[in-house]
Amino acid sequence: MINYCIVGMGVRGLSMYAEDMVAQYQDVARLTGVCDINPGRVRYAQQILGPDIRGFTDFDTMLNEVPCDVVIVVTKDSTHADFIVRALHRGKDVITEKPMTMAADQCRQILKAEQETGHSVRVTFNYRYAPYKTEVKRLLRTGIVGDVHSVEFRWYLDTAHGADYFRRWHARKENSGGLLVHKASHHFDLINWWLDREPEEVVAMGSRQYYQPQQHPGHGSRCTRCGVAEQCEFYFDLDRDPLLHALYRENESYDHYYRDGCVFSETTDIEDTMSLLIRYPDRIQVTYALTAATPFEGWQVAFNGSLGRLEAFEGEAMVLEDDVRDFARRSDGKTRRAHDWRTVAAETPTSPDHLECRFYPLFGGVKTFSVPNVEEAHGGGDRRLKDDLFRGVAEDPLGHAANSRAGAMALLVGVAANQSMAEHRFVSIDELLPAETLASVPATHG
Ligand SMILES: NC(=O)c1ccc[n+]([C@@H]2O[C@H](COP(=O)([O-])OP(=O)(O)OC[C@H]3O[C@@H](n4cnc5c(N)ncnc54)[C@H](O)[C@@H]3O)[C@@H](O)[C@H]2O)c1
Repeated sequence: MINYCIVGMGVRGLSMYAEDMVAQYQDVARLTGVCDINPGRVRYAQQILGPDIRGFTDFDTMLNEVPCDVVIVVTKDSTHADFIVRALHRGKDVITEKPMTMAADQCRQILKAEQETGHSVRVTFNYRYAPYKTEVKRLLRTGIVGDVHSVEFRWYLDTAHGADYFRRWHARKENSGGLLVHKASHHFDLINWWLDREPEEVVAMGSRQYYQPQQHPGHGSRCTRCGVAEQCEFYFDLDRDPLLHALYRENESYDHYYRDGCVFSETTDIEDTMSLLIRYPDRIQVTYALTAATPFEGWQVAFNGSLGRLEAFEGEAMVLEDDVRDFARRSDGKTRRAHDWRTVAAETPTSPDHLECRFYPLFGGVKTFSVPNVEEAHGGGDRRLKDDLFRGVAEDPLGHAANSRAGAMALLVGVAANQSMAEHRFVSIDELLPAETLASVPATHG
């Protein structure tokens, strides 16, 4: 039996890890303590998890007082590095949410702490585990496209999910590194993993095109008591969702963390529209774009190679016209249906039974590979990741498990992109984190 402590009792810490550990994995994982800077959220978590789970507002006190082999870090991104390094030096292994951290110097500190302590970091890249994304990896592994020449990758965040990043701490780069670090580190990890390669250099453009204060003149700093709530497509009633109410509304007095911040805030400094060009070894060119204000949610990728082109597409959500003034319904898992928005009428979204990868040989024809559409969190990635984390797997032929090196390589693309935007130049990964720094950590692309 392995003892775990979790730091960070927001939605992710509680729903993804803590609740399942006590309900689904109790035969292999013992949750001994939870910690959050907000005492109200700690108390709420204890009510949900039961009296055996100790609650703390101080990380070191938690590690002093309860047995712990592994620390799970699920706090806001800017605090990850500190908790990871402290846990390693306390003789613990670490599981951390993405992004592993937000900056190159913090990557160095984490790698150094791993070397000094002999303990290790796992990064929870759940998207790798989703069956559809795994199928892309499997197909590339077979060599179906031959030598890969270029990759086209597009990710679309809609006016529910995308907007949510502009409501709270994510909207400031000092907290999240912007969407290129916070969100796109998922996507950069997928590219690294799919290609079995690490990125070399990056050039980027980015700007905030949509979430601008002038979209709603007269808006308040949050939806609660906002003067333009009636007219706003993004008005969010925090009290309608029982979980958000209990975790955030009820505990605002402790830390003034307002979960319903205005998406058009004057203090936002992150981009909503970003384009990158990334060079990989073997002269592979990757174009990547992330847009955070689109009518649909989803992604598409294509690999062009010496033998043909492999395409994957997933429409993750479709917002209905009726919900234009209802942010809660737009965000609701029951109303947000997975849907191929390219082909089906918007009024009747239906989830596909299967998702397809299509291979177009260079000189004609098409081969289709389909996998069942898994309508679970993150395309089925969350459940499979947890099974691997807590129960382990006998074999990992495609290299799903991600270590600190994979964590670094994913987030450094975002860091390089931010630097490229600021300095208008190509930024190499090696100038951020020299290759020799990574020498002791194996690449885990599978
Ligand atoms: N892999 C995924 O798909 C996925 C999905 C959602 C969130 N996440 C990650 O999970 C993390 C948490 O996200 P969230 O949506 O739950 O955020 P959140 O803001 O809802 O929760 C974060 C919690 O951390 C606490 N916290 C902040 N600073 C702290 C500190 N110094 N000490 C102790 N506690 C502190 C906050 O009080 C809050 O309860 C983020 O890193 C995010 O990137 C990953």
